[in-house]
Amino acid sequence: MDVTGGRDLRALFSTNDRSLQTDEAFTNRASQWELVAAALTEHLQHTASRGFNVEDLEAPRNHVLVFHGVGGIGKTTLSRKLEAALADAGRRPAQWGEPGWPADRILPVRIDLARSASCDFEQFVLMIRLGLARLGRPLPAFDLALRRFWEANHPGEPLEEYLRRGGLAARFGQALPQQMQSALSDIAQALLLPGTVGSVVGQVTGALVGALRERRQTVRALAGCARLADLLEAEPDLDALSYYPHLLAWELARLPAGRRVTPVVLLDTFEDIGDRTRRDLERLIQRTVWLMPNAFWVITGRSRLQWADPALQGQLDYTGPTAWPGLATPIVPANRTPPTGSGRRQVLVGDFSPEDCDDYLARRLARDGRPLISEPIRRVITTRSHGLPLYLDLSVARFLELRSTCGASPCGGRRTSAARTS
Ligand SMILES: Nc1ncnc2c1ncn2[C@@H]1O[C@H](COP(=O)(O)OP(=O)(O)O)[C@@H](O)[C@H]1O
Ligand SMILES: [Mg+2]
Repeated sequence: MDVTGGRDLRALFSTNDRSLQTDEAFTNRASQWELVAAALTEHLQHTASRGFNVEDLEAPRNHVLVFHGVGGIGKTTLSRKLEAALADAGRRPAQWGEPGWPADRILPVRIDLARSASCDFEQFVLMIRLGLARLGRPLPAFDLALRRFWEANHPGEPLEEYLRRGGLAARFGQALPQQMQSALSDIAQALLLPGTVGSVVGQVTGALVGALRERRQTVRALAGCARLADLLEAEPDLDALSYYPHLLAWELARLPAGRRVTPVVLLDTFEDIGDRTRRDLERLIQRTVWLMPNAFWVITGRSRLQWADPALQGQLDYTGPTAWPGLATPIVPANRTPPTGSGRRQVLVGDFSPEDCDDYLARRLARDGRPLISEPIRRVITTRSHGLPLYLDLSVARFLELRSTCGASPCGGRRTSAARTS
């Protein structure tokens, strides 16, 4: 459904009947929200605890929550709703309870990995950085590395321009180019490099990186980042880029306590990033997830995430049940309960109950405050839908279509039900 601000424009524009009321009718998913709330709360406690160290590259990760299910079951809709609810409490569906965290501490970033959205790894990284632009401050270690990568891989195409031109900046605001400039100027100043970086287009980071190598300790903003020098000295290719998220994580951990935020990255349509034999993009994305243990990740896709499967060793960097306890399939002997934590971060998105279906159909189209689709038709559609939201959505469209071709009430005419023909 094309829902804009809670209105179903497709339904509205399919009829001349101005008394028709449409509602996006986002239904249920309350248990999924509870799982997100519980896992995110746990994550916030963990990352705030003394034992947590963002530079620990070996500790098991429990910061991923997976929702999987067949096409049309509502994963994308759920992912969008989560983004909206996390960004703005006012957009949280009525049936979802109030979460326990302060709203301004959560920064949702949603990335659609659908093939049609053609998001490559470079864009993937940029989108995460752009999502963090709302912090309103430079992230110098990362910004410097990214700038160096960009200059090597896109000569003659300044990053600022690319961001301004692409839809990316429009989506995330214009703040990033400025933040990156000021990060570089600050570093240049600390290194006492002549000339202002802001006015130079092109090969600026070469000089910076060179000076930094000798005098890193003089740049206070970067001094504590143990792995920065290695990253800046590595060939700036795609593989190197996939390690830069470590710098993002490091920068986030360094924010003053009062301004600390937790990004919640929502990766949708995960099934599109490869197949069972080609995992190139998945490897880079998994690396990003691993290197950002202070972010929280919500992954939606057709199938379970296989990262805890030891058979994937060699195809991905971090595999096995020890690394990803929450993603592992618990092997439980009969009469025994699964070990705590095991596998509980992979959640099947199930079909709607008959009550959910009826609720959806009754709310979706209304006239004078009463459901437009009569009860008997709702029952037929509900039975045939097998609880699949996509089917309900299509049935509503079909209902409107029949209504305009065979009179105000498709149920009363010769054709007895909307569901029969859908
Ligand atoms: N919770 C929901 N409430 C109402 N409608 C939903 C809900 N989830 C899905 N839908 C409907 O079902 C259609 C398919 O859902 P979608 O999220 O695209 O499924 P998936 O991403 O799993 O393929 C959507 O266009 C929407 O109309
Ligand atoms: Mg989808």
